[in-house]
Amino acid sequence: MGRAVAAAMIPGLALLWAAGLGDAAPNLPRLRLSFQELQAQHGVRTFRLERTCCYEALLVDEERGRLFVGAENHVASLSLDNISKRAKKLAWPAPVEWREECNWAGKDIGTECMNFVKLLHTYNHTHLLACGTGAFHPTCAFVEVGHRLEEPMLRLDLKKLEDGKGKSPYDPRHRAASVLVGEELYSGVAADLMGRDFTIFRSLGQNPSLRTEPHDSRWLNEPKFVKVFWIPESENPDDDKIYFFFRESAVEAAPAMGRMTVSRVGQICRNDLGGQRSLVNKWTTFLKARLVCSVPGVEGDTHFDQLQDVFLLTSRDRQTPLLYAVFSTSSGVFQGSAVCVYSMNDVRRAFLGPFAHKEGPTHQWVSYQGRVPYPRPGMCPSKTFGTFSSTKDFPDDVIQFARNHPLMYNPVLPVGGRPLFLQVGAGYTFTQITADRVAAADGHYDVLFIGTDVGTVLKVISVPKGSRPNSEGLLLEELQVFEDSATITSMQISSKRHQLYVASPSAVAQIALHRCTTLGRACAECCLARDPYCAWDGSACTRFQPTAKRRFRRQDIRNGDPSTLCSGDSSHPALLERKVLGVENGSAFLECEPRSLQAQVEWTFHRAGEVAHTQVLAEERLERTARGLLLHRLRRQDSGVYLCVAVEQGFSRPLCRLVLHVLSAVQAERLARAEEAAAPAPPGPKLWYRDFLQLVEPGGGGGANSLRMCRPQPGPRPQPGPHSVAAESRRKGRNRRMHASELRAERGPRSAAHW
Ligand SMILES: *[C@@H]1O[C@H](CO)[C@@H](O)[C@H](O)[C@H]1NC(C)=O
Ligand SMILES: *[C@@H]1O[C@H](CO)[C@@H](O)[C@H](O)[C@H]1NC(C)=O
Ligand SMILES: *[C@@H]1O[C@H](CO)[C@@H](O)[C@H](O)[C@H]1NC(C)=O
Repeated sequence: MGRAVAAAMIPGLALLWAAGLGDAAPNLPRLRLSFQELQAQHGVRTFRLERTCCYEALLVDEERGRLFVGAENHVASLSLDNISKRAKKLAWPAPVEWREECNWAGKDIGTECMNFVKLLHTYNHTHLLACGTGAFHPTCAFVEVGHRLEEPMLRLDLKKLEDGKGKSPYDPRHRAASVLVGEELYSGVAADLMGRDFTIFRSLGQNPSLRTEPHDSRWLNEPKFVKVFWIPESENPDDDKIYFFFRESAVEAAPAMGRMTVSRVGQICRNDLGGQRSLVNKWTTFLKARLVCSVPGVEGDTHFDQLQDVFLLTSRDRQTPLLYAVFSTSSGVFQGSAVCVYSMNDVRRAFLGPFAHKEGPTHQWVSYQGRVPYPRPGMCPSKTFGTFSSTKDFPDDVIQFARNHPLMYNPVLPVGGRPLFLQVGAGYTFTQITADRVAAADGHYDVLFIGTDVGTVLKVISVPKGSRPNSEGLLLEELQVFEDSATITSMQISSKRHQLYVASPSAVAQIALHRCTTLGRACAECCLARDPYCAWDGSACTRFQPTAKRRFRRQDIRNGDPSTLCSGDSSHPALLERKVLGVENGSAFLECEPRSLQAQVEWTFHRAGEVAHTQVLAEERLERTARGLLLHRLRRQDSGVYLCVAVEQGFSRPLCRLVLHVLSAVQAERLARAEEAAAPAPPGPKLWYRDFLQLVEPGGGGGANSLRMCRPQPGPRPQPGPHSVAAESRRKGRNRRMHASELRAERGPRSAAHW
């Protein structure tokens, strides 16, 4: 075996340090929006039922305009436009006998012996198929939802339940992975109470129920199923295949390497009927291949080995969708997640490649070099590729070969050979992914929404990098869609309504796919944001309209370069200006916080009475913070104009002009006396000094909360905290000018008592 081949078959140790990822800094989103901001300004909507947990199954029904939700003991039907509005719910608890049996089997009555609804599929024009754990007694039901144009309804006949074995998991901690094709349900589950008999199972419908070979580790080895898709192979429906995505213990790993997880894609033919003499009622077309998502390194590859979720992005050609998959690592020392993209052609190529073969228990897994029988195992019986009309007609040698060779030798590598997007050391991992293909001014872009285990959603766009098909992911937004930091368990998109639905153990949330006005009030900011949903329409950052005139939809997703796009744009928002007072030997805080976390801040200084501008350079008295510049031990000659400039992708834009005036101690003291004499304050320009004096009065200095953001952004400003200047002023009942809260100076070494 060559080196590359060995790497393909035997997962290397997670040599993350070797790959240079160990000390990589996490990707910063361009914008980070808290739950409070989303709630106050962007209409995040939440749905939860009383005393109900574990929202896991989401089903978007565009035609009916409903979002169906499966949770603990409940199914709910919500409006896709507003999930908080006119929700219908249906209680579906497990019967008392089942709960008791569950409890006798040693399970917890309050947390495990419930009916956790895991699976929801559209069954026909009037009904859904719903399956739940039924207190470790899997059960399914047909839920009546009515015709498309009728009033929303939600009804379940508890007397007409179906056996849910092989459809829903027993254990609430397990995920359901299934697809309904016609009337047939294809699922990957544990089909026993102990959770040991894992199977890929077909049930319902007219075709016979089929399963994988039980207790054969070559077929399945403690798998965790993630997703199942039905993908046509050709125009002929006889070639249709069902693809299973899962992770499992690597049977091919050398024993010396210990237990190792690998991610897999498995296939079966939809028209498989099982074997005639052997593999009776078992799949004869089952094959699986390893899915690799790794970063190449000098000493070895860094493997993201734990497949978490897969999203199938269909294009016009239904046979060649793109697969977006999220992975995490199993490494104990290193927390990282990755998005890898796979093409169906690469998946199919692996199934047409060599089979993995193991001669005996003491042998290694190698590439099978012998004769492969005809028809080649994995091919569906159809007129497209052969003459067989049923798997029952397959020759015995084909069936025997299929039984002993479910694993392919070559892995499936991601498009571009490496992850599209990585997040390392960020304190969370990816759990879910969904995607939307968006038409922009310069082509189509895939926008990914990635759910994490801390209740946040990352919005990432895939942009071309260098030569095609290489792309890279850019992190646009990090949205905290839940009040708590629960794991995201499911995500669905309504492309039609531009909405994202997100489930967690504690609630379901709804959020729009874009927030264009948040991106900025200038052409350059809108352009730098690179959000394919948004464009500069000449006066605001708004939803991109492909049909609008070109100058009303300025957008550059590919480069995010505002210099040409926004030149001649006269709609710059007025530069914010603030006055700041300081006392000699004291400190002053020059606040300037760009909205974009990816922008760097540069400061220039224009000394009072001088002509030249100078760059503010690093100095001992100077402290750069995320929110601005802190000047210590002020000198009189620090007085002047400070200009704060945000630099992003090589493009600079001024944010704020801060005029600092440093007073001598004598001046300050004189002012303090004048203030005392002048109360109540006369109107007029003197007020400006009064403002300053309040700041230096005992207890009058504002805490961090009093800082008024000097950043060009729409929306409400943060409220001053209880100890702020403004609050202090209200307490004293004094008449203040509006700019008072913008002033800020910190007391010098002389104590407040001095004043
Ligand atoms: C959604 O519905 C709730 C409840 O009726 C309502 O309070 C809220 O304003 C609605 N939100 C939107 C954006 O329509
Ligand atoms: C849908 O399926 C349910 C359950 O099998 C059945 O009762 C109902 O009549 C079906 N509806 C239609 C329109 O076929
Ligand atoms: C400022 O500090 C310097 C050095 O400690 C000292 O010499 C000077 O007198 C101080 N000035 C004022 C006004 O306190």
